[in-house]
Amino acid sequence: MSTTPNTPTSASREPSCKVSAGPHEAPSSPAGKHPAPPCTLVIFGAGGDLTKRLLMPALYNLAVDGLLDDGMKIIGVNHGERETSVWREDLHTSLQQFAADKASTFHAGKLDDTAWDWVAQRLEYMAGEFETDDTFTKLKQKLNQSPGCNVIFYLAVSSRFFKPIVEHLGKAGLLKEGEGDASGFRRIVIEKPFGTDLASARDLNVHILSYANESQVYRIDHFLGKDTVQSILAVRFANALFEPIWRREYIDSVQITAAETIGVEGRGKFYEQTGAFRDMLPNHLFQLLGMVAMEPPNSFDAEAVRDKKAEISDAIQPLTADDVVFGQYEKGPAGVGYREEPDVAPDSTTETYAAARVYVENWRWAGVPFYLRTGKRLAARRTEISVQLKPVPFRLFRDTPVDALTPNVLTLRIDPAHGTSFDFNVKTPGPVMQIGAVQSSFDYADFFAERANVGYETLLYDCMLGDETLFQRADSIETSWCAVDDVLHPKTGGAIPVHGYPAGSEGPAEADALLARDGHAWRPLKRDAVEKK
Ligand code: BG6
Repeated sequence: MSTTPNTPTSASREPSCKVSAGPHEAPSSPAGKHPAPPCTLVIFGAGGDLTKRLLMPALYNLAVDGLLDDGMKIIGVNHGERETSVWREDLHTSLQQFAADKASTFHAGKLDDTAWDWVAQRLEYMAGEFETDDTFTKLKQKLNQSPGCNVIFYLAVSSRFFKPIVEHLGKAGLLKEGEGDASGFRRIVIEKPFGTDLASARDLNVHILSYANESQVYRIDHFLGKDTVQSILAVRFANALFEPIWRREYIDSVQITAAETIGVEGRGKFYEQTGAFRDMLPNHLFQLLGMVAMEPPNSFDAEAVRDKKAEISDAIQPLTADDVVFGQYEKGPAGVGYREEPDVAPDSTTETYAAARVYVENWRWAGVPFYLRTGKRLAARRTEISVQLKPVPFRLFRDTPVDALTPNVLTLRIDPAHGTSFDFNVKTPGPVMQIGAVQSSFDYADFFAERANVGYETLLYDCMLGDETLFQRADSIETSWCAVDDVLHPKTGGAIPVHGYPAGSEGPAEADALLARDGHAWRPLKRDAVEKK
């Protein structure tokens, strides 16, 4: 993590790309941070959505903070001839649009021209198909102009290109790290989806690892780039209050929610093949679960943290059909049904909602249910983790039975609200001893100057530093897929039924029943009236 960067490798300490600094100097870095080592960032998928929506805003933000080295270069590879000046202009235009759009995660207001110019003059476009030798020969020639250069290959492309790109890079000798011309680091950043099930994830790992070492592979889960997600470890391990009660003796259950109000947003084709479960559960939601459930690591070194997270994905009890509920949005207050969306089959059975009950079978968590849910077109946008404590043991207040007391719940708010809240009980004012539920909250914005951070800043910066803490290791990816394999490929009982829910609602009634079975209930998604934010 950028707050506690790993010691950079010797390769990453060596400035190796020599390009002229140009007239625009990046502003100085925030306290305690230093610019990343110089490198060439090769973005496959330069013309794609990810590049303009997330990578460029993140690079711009890093430039604003002075965290990029003057020797940085950015080569964008995409099919189709295009002048570098046209690519730059396109990126500039979209950056300005996002900056002005209040709904965008990159709502920066007005762009800082100095920072943009600094990024722009380092951009170079290269036309090339992702599956032809010619592209990689051309790329090699370009990279050879700076012998010993550090290079990051960012695969911002559809997952079908992951294998061919890595294979071409390997065969062209572009992943070789060592002496002389190859003295710089060579890293590959791979987006999700990393496989579509256990078999395909294993196959992809084997393929990649036949051309690169594990230490060169940076598998991204963008949830880990969010400050509020990284803060889960800070809340747990930087406060004496929480850790003693962070265990099965005191915790009743945990709810992890990633609810969205948007639909499939023109991604019908992708979503038809993926569905909510694959899209969110074994990756984003399991990452959040890992942050909540992992044992304290001995240090914040990448391997120490990743070992502890790997233990959790390994301890997740494999899910069965009984543990999950699937839903699909139908016409409702928030709009049309999923089947009426573009590129979606009129009789589609793809789930747009998934809920699951997960158990982590280890000493700390045995018997504590973790309820996970995610979905499109729900009543509110809300990504959060709620940790519910067990009730007090004894009826002290005669008029208030223990089971009538509101349970203590610590909520870690990830998005769009950033902060925490804690539900607890106090005496209500007046002569009678009566108990009332209250909430105390912390909002990031009240304490810190928040910036339009898109979540990729830390991840890019960490990759340049060689800090893999926030990236996923091959073993964790595979154990996560392993835990859901029986849901994806049921050995008995056929496919999981998909239940309808109105667009704009709290989700299917069957998901409520999943929790009701255990005497629990989902925390309502729409509860803004009682919350500060
Ligand atoms: C992506 C999923 O990985 O995460 C999307 O493919 C989803 O379907 C998105 O909308 C949610 O991320 P965030 O950061 O907007 O909560």
